[in-house]
Amino acid sequence: MNRVHIKTYGCQMNERDSEAVAAMLRSRGYRIVNSEDDCDILLLNTCSVRDAAEQKAIGKAGFVAHRKKKDPDFVLGILGCMAQNRGASLLDQLPDVDLIVGTQKFHQVPDYLDNLRAARDAGLPIGETIVDIAEEAGSQNTIKDHLAPEAGALGTDGELLAPQVNAFVSIQQGCNMDCAFCIVPKTRGDERSRPMDDIVAECRSLAARGVKEVTLLGQIVTSYGRRDYTHTDGISPFVQLLERVNAIDGIERIRFTSPHPRGFKDDLVQAYGRLEKLCEYVHLPMQSGSDRILKAMNRPYSRERYREIVESLRAVRPDMYFSTDIIVGFPGETDEEFEQTRELFEACNYDMAYIFKYSIRSGTPAADMGDQIPDSVKEHRNAVLLDILKKNSERRNAALLGTIEEVLVEGPDKTGQRFTGRTRGNRVCIFDAQARLIGQRVPLKIERSSVSTLYGELQLAGV
Ligand code: 5AD
Repeated sequence: MNRVHIKTYGCQMNERDSEAVAAMLRSRGYRIVNSEDDCDILLLNTCSVRDAAEQKAIGKAGFVAHRKKKDPDFVLGILGCMAQNRGASLLDQLPDVDLIVGTQKFHQVPDYLDNLRAARDAGLPIGETIVDIAEEAGSQNTIKDHLAPEAGALGTDGELLAPQVNAFVSIQQGCNMDCAFCIVPKTRGDERSRPMDDIVAECRSLAARGVKEVTLLGQIVTSYGRRDYTHTDGISPFVQLLERVNAIDGIERIRFTSPHPRGFKDDLVQAYGRLEKLCEYVHLPMQSGSDRILKAMNRPYSRERYREIVESLRAVRPDMYFSTDIIVGFPGETDEEFEQTRELFEACNYDMAYIFKYSIRSGTPAADMGDQIPDSVKEHRNAVLLDILKKNSERRNAALLGTIEEVLVEGPDKTGQRFTGRTRGNRVCIFDAQARLIGQRVPLKIERSSVSTLYGELQLAGV
């Protein structure tokens, strides 16, 4: 009775945390299963960034808690940001939850599950809920285990396992920026970076397992190491880290998320010109195009400065792809202020964007600001930006028709009939290929596109 399913809500950091928990549990003898119906232990790794994300996880937990009535040994755990944000008060709504584990305690999950199992095997009732949401010095260093198979590892039928092509690597946890809308400083705590040598060693070990693309993760990666390392020759610790990962044999592509615009100084902009593995795709959260709203949000840049960053990156890499985060309907946002956002959004010509309707997060400064914006207005502003994004994305894809793109083959697509991979600009591609090409960068002639996907034919002899 050791089958664990982990369901993840929210961002890539959460996905990475779930993977690390899964890898730790597997090395303790637990089985990680894909089906939530056939598990003995269900862990929900949660998100708090908007109310809807919390409600989704609470709804799910309430629904599966019924299973405990039929099967008292079934274990339900809530991990991550919502556990951190709400703590033991979650039990008011969800009295049947066995485990509540915050963002600095993921590494304790195996011990807690071992304890629950030992109690159950001894015939004892599971008893009191375990709640652990304490801070822990050094917890940023505990997200390091991966599920990627060792080189040459065999599957259950003795077949050679295909390598995992891309991996997330956690480099930093927490954020000290205190954006007025954001719950992350509360859920993730103070900014803490991992030692550069550890990160480089982890990337090397991933490369040895066949991983070709790494995405460096943190809540504010551009601040990486600012308290632990000095600038050398004007190069920030984050760019020093990029240089070191760029030098690792076997790693062929580097991405990172999430940065802050204030981290795009000249050293990082120039890195796009000289680090050949750094993909020409930048996620650059704008949040708003109005200087007054940016100030109210406590975002330390102007629309002018933001525009300048985009232009300097395009000057270094004319083929750069841009993505962003926008919040519409921040308290007090007028039609004119939204119009400034719309205008800057259009001018930046994004290839991808995440557009959010402002959601009140209790305990953040913006929650207490007057002049909350009605839902219908947020809805309208959201639709206006989505419409621009769709047109941009179609235009960019149409321009790729007939061109040849470098695609890193990741594996079979959802249907299992074809293969999927991504361009350096992070566009998903679908094409015919063979399993031996997984992990290779191949030329793909783009023949067709939808809003978000490119379809094409490999330009290889014999495929
Ligand atoms: N309401 C809406 N969107 C939010 N984000 C963060 N906090 C909120 C909130 N209270 C968005 C920001 C951030 C992204 C991860 O989520 O755009 O960059």
